[in-house]
Amino acid sequence: MRRRRVAILISGGGSNMLALARDMAAADHPAEVCLVLANRPEAGGLVRARELGLPVAAVDHRAFGADRAAFEAAMARPLAESGAEILCLAGFMRVLTPRFIAAWEGRMLNIHPSILPLFPGLDTHARALAAGMAVHGCTVHEVTAELDSGPILGQAVIAVEAGDTPASLAARLLPMEHRLYPAVLRRFASGDRRPVAILG
Ligand code: GAR
Repeated sequence: MRRRRVAILISGGGSNMLALARDMAAADHPAEVCLVLANRPEAGGLVRARELGLPVAAVDHRAFGADRAAFEAAMARPLAESGAEILCLAGFMRVLTPRFIAAWEGRMLNIHPSILPLFPGLDTHARALAAGMAVHGCTVHEVTAELDSGPILGQAVIAVEAGDTPASLAARLLPMEHRLYPAVLRRFASGDRRPVAILG
């Protein structure tokens, strides 16, 4: 079977990108990395991707001011050149326009650090604690025009423990993200959209 070409979009350290890329290095994987694209040239994940020998590119959103459409047009070029068929947002912290999202509808995934539909947006760990949650988690979903609201493709959960802080929750959740996202991508790239559930 021909492997689907996946572009991974990052903004920072890219640990989820690395988890996806390492899994895609397996010979039996239905997908391969065609590009790691960052909206910040200084993103630490770009260095780590280069070390793995992955193709990388950066499009600095700050060069486009408030013009999101121009930023996205600039991203569309390297994406098209890479032959990307699937986009994985992995700690990509820019809001995308409905037009860009429509162009990738059904082919763009995101990982979000909460049990959606709870806590869309930012500061998810602090909000889960403030709400008195006994469990917390992460979600991989299809990206649709409404923020953090597309069809759920997988979730992983962890217990909230006494004394947890936003930082401790984030640190315990990240390894679960690294298990969940590759598991979801494997299924998704082989045409199977049944959700993955991982209980920590
Ligand atoms: C991850 O926790 C991811 O879930 C979160 O950012 C972190 C990126 O870490 N994403 C969002 O908050 C998306 N709104 P990474 O760069 O090490 O993968």
